[in-house]
Amino acid sequence: MKLAIGADHGGYILKKEIVDFLSKIGNIEVADYGTSGPESVDYPDYGRKVSEAVSNGTVDRGILICGTGIGMSIVANRYPKVRAALCHDNFTARMSRLHNDANVLVMGERVIGRGVALDIVKVWLETEFEGSRHARRLQKIEELRPGK
Ligand code: RB5
Repeated sequence: MKLAIGADHGGYILKKEIVDFLSKIGNIEVADYGTSGPESVDYPDYGRKVSEAVSNGTVDRGILICGTGIGMSIVANRYPKVRAALCHDNFTARMSRLHNDANVLVMGERVIGRGVALDIVKVWLETEFEGSRHARRLQKIEELRPGK
């Protein structure tokens, strides 16, 4: 699996932890789109890099981290074919895969601890989409063209 990861200054510490964690799992090719330090940056600049990579098929999945996860979620869900889920625990991570086929995982470094975050990543990577009625619902989302 190819996976892109990105963060702003509110999420770069957790991003590094996740990159280290993923390197130990194996079978995952990680593209790190930054940022990698505490200097203040704008989360849309990093959210867009990962979201574009998922949207155009350069990678299979993405992980985005900011302070709360909210800004990155807003950015990511503007992109076609991106289904970004802001997850705070194992349950939301598992359901985001089972029911929503989420291809971008978003977390808030200022919201959850390292252990919970790494557990979320593990569950999110291991859980398959259930399909069936959920596929029908995702298709309805694809067909939404608000304002038209
Ligand atoms: C940066 O201070 C913070 O606003 C950002 O990381 C994120 O939480 C935005 O939603």
